[in-house]
Amino acid sequence: MYFALMNRWMRATTWLSFLITLAAGTFGPLIRQQAQTKEGLQALAAQRDFYIGAAIAVDPLRREPSYRETLQREFNAAVAENAFKFDALHPARDRYDFKDADLIADFAQRNGMKLRGHTLVWHKQLPAWVTNGSFTRAEAIALMRDHITTVMTHFRGKVWAWDVVNEAMEGKDEPLRTDSFWYQKIGPDYIRLAFEFARAADPDAILYYNDFDAEDMGTRSKHVYNLVRDLKQRGTPIDGVGWQMHIDDNFKINGDHRKNARRLGELGLELSITELDVRTKTDGTPSAKQSAVYRDVATFCLTEPNCRAVILWGVTDKHSWVPAFFPGYGDALIFDADYRPKPAYAALRDALQTAITAPPIITAASFAAGKLTVTGQNFDRKSVVWINGKPQKTEADKAQPTTKLTIKKADPAIAPSQAVKLHVQNPDGKLSRVFDYK
Ligand code: XIL
Repeated sequence: MYFALMNRWMRATTWLSFLITLAAGTFGPLIRQQAQTKEGLQALAAQRDFYIGAAIAVDPLRREPSYRETLQREFNAAVAENAFKFDALHPARDRYDFKDADLIADFAQRNGMKLRGHTLVWHKQLPAWVTNGSFTRAEAIALMRDHITTVMTHFRGKVWAWDVVNEAMEGKDEPLRTDSFWYQKIGPDYIRLAFEFARAADPDAILYYNDFDAEDMGTRSKHVYNLVRDLKQRGTPIDGVGWQMHIDDNFKINGDHRKNARRLGELGLELSITELDVRTKTDGTPSAKQSAVYRDVATFCLTEPNCRAVILWGVTDKHSWVPAFFPGYGDALIFDADYRPKPAYAALRDALQTAITAPPIITAASFAAGKLTVTGQNFDRKSVVWINGKPQKTEADKAQPTTKLTIKKADPAIAPSQAVKLHVQNPDGKLSRVFDYK
């Protein structure tokens, strides 16, 4: 009897400790993960309708738990580093391969990350069947259309914004690069056609033109601006411009970057930093400047009304493209090769934290007698209302300057029934979330 009881008790305790071990093993990481989620950059970004993302490479996504955990914890947006490119998706004329791309798209969807599609039409990473094939102009157009339509249809509802055309600029005096398959077979019109096919394939996706060295007011940026302005004027469906921003640690935001963002805003275009990395010299001395650059770029985007997202070109220095493509440089990302956050990570956090601490908040807007009145919280006598990406001459209410702002004459004029996007910006640069006035 005694032994029988003892036996049962022993069995029960063994079971109990087994269950405890099991629970700790199964739920431990889950619980830890949830706690970390609250701390990630994404939790701060979400408070400002802002997106902070990273480029995902498929190999570490498959193989490394730390890679997946870091993505899940930190980012609310993503892009595939290579898996959405033409050669990866469309290896033979009559064959598409969505295996790797689907893995990334499903990961993004399961983790509530907005996904950018990169890229549909580019002169690089094209398969040999395209570049070595002989095609008439009509055939090349049909091929491009088939690719855009098949890929965008496959990802409909899963991709937030597409880089429809990537790096079409030459960079010197000639605007368009002529060494592109698309340019050579179709001519300069390939860009317009690509955007038209894209809109038809997925009317809900945000359509971007993406390029490097397009952020200042120099020749390349001018060419990009002229291109998107002409597209807009012709009624071509384009919604945004991506600035890649593969930069080094000497970079500084200046007034030209803001001017450029605003002239794009005035065309009705949004902006994203699509491929940010800040490379540093790998001569043994860690960069003291890198974190300032990350802070600067994030703060810029957080304080320009049409800038929606900052996407980093990778997660960890362990898997960055930089050392292979910029000899002598590396350490360009915000996590080191062991997934430890670098000072640049803290700088990004701080930029986001600053942007969401006591920002202006719009709660209502109304039109009466030609005047637009915006009400809310945390306004200032010198706050400025933006209408559709354009700053307006704004007056603060004398009695209630922190809650009421008025625009007597909108520029350009707007009708009371017109739907517009409103922002309030405080003198310290802090921006409200977008307010849709209908
Ligand atoms: C790079 C990837 O990071 C590399 O892995 C690949 O070998 C080459 O392409 N501009 C772009 C990106 O638009 O697609 C490029 O990505 C980096 C430059």
